[in-house]
Amino acid sequence: MAKAIYTYYFCEKVKMIQRPRRNRKSAAIRNMVAETIVTPADLIFPLFLLQDPQAQVPVNSMPGISRKGIEPLLKEVEACMKLGVQAFDIFPVVDESLKSKDAAYSYDSSNFYLKALERVKREFPESCIMTDVAMDPYSTDGHDGIVRDGKIINDETLEVLNKMAVAQAETGADIIGPSDMMDGRVASIRQSLDQAGFTETSIMSYTAKYASAYYGPFRDALDSAPKFGDKKTYQMDPANRKEALREANLDMEEGADMLMVKPAFAYLDIISDLAAHSHLPITAYNVSGEYAMIKAANEKGWLDGDRAADEMLLSIKRAGAKVILTYFAKEFALRYHDRK
Ligand code: PBG
Repeated sequence: MAKAIYTYYFCEKVKMIQRPRRNRKSAAIRNMVAETIVTPADLIFPLFLLQDPQAQVPVNSMPGISRKGIEPLLKEVEACMKLGVQAFDIFPVVDESLKSKDAAYSYDSSNFYLKALERVKREFPESCIMTDVAMDPYSTDGHDGIVRDGKIINDETLEVLNKMAVAQAETGADIIGPSDMMDGRVASIRQSLDQAGFTETSIMSYTAKYASAYYGPFRDALDSAPKFGDKKTYQMDPANRKEALREANLDMEEGADMLMVKPAFAYLDIISDLAAHSHLPITAYNVSGEYAMIKAANEKGWLDGDRAADEMLLSIKRAGAKVILTYFAKEFALRYHDRK
């Protein structure tokens, strides 16, 4: 059949009845048939929190992004909410003097991060606030878990993560985001939250988080790079695809509410696999290195950064992510409203 039609078109040179270009002929038609659309409501904006309440310090490797004390951070949240970006993932920049091997400051009631989460939620109750659960910002070793004899100790780390998660839930945070990649942490955190009465606090699990070079600028921003070695004994091997489904199955069984793939743009196959495999919303973390690459090429005049960013977000959503954590969130929302 296909062969007959082919012969007909090209031998007779008449009547090409299939012309896909008809569906692309005007913006009105293109907009109408567009299969994917990104809106500000799909985005989570990661924010870096400084201890000094008024401070604002740019991140060199992430043009347009700065670390902020609580006061400028609240202003940023307010500006984003007006643009329709309602969700924020807040990360603390912790002074070296507050770090320790056991990351005890992470659940200390005097922790400036916990106080800030509470303040944001109090001032913007309708916002969605996500937290980060991992030891690295608080660890003198710069690792996501407890280190002993050069090894990351899984089960003892869970005890720390549980305390951290409950302390964060106490601030009123909406979504707990375990980014540590320890085995069993979703079940362990879920149980701890429930026992403490936080049955309504969600967990967005970093399900398929790869040991990636694309986290470089983030580690600059937080000053959280590992002091020795790398994260390859807990973060996933970029070579692996099926293993992401194994992690997804575990997180679903363990009670995760949303599954995340990280990084996003270099891992569209993983996003697509998880979207086909799970009924949970799939989220993707468009990480710092993916942001930095576009900004750097834009600064050099090598590509149109705004269009490249919009296309990047569209591709991540087209692959199957419903939600995207992205440093482009605010500028995307500004462009989105300009276009309307
Ligand atoms: C820490 C954490 C990292 C990121 C989010 N949480 C870095 C890492 O695992 O080393 C990376 C985010 C980004 O690059 O934008 N657990």
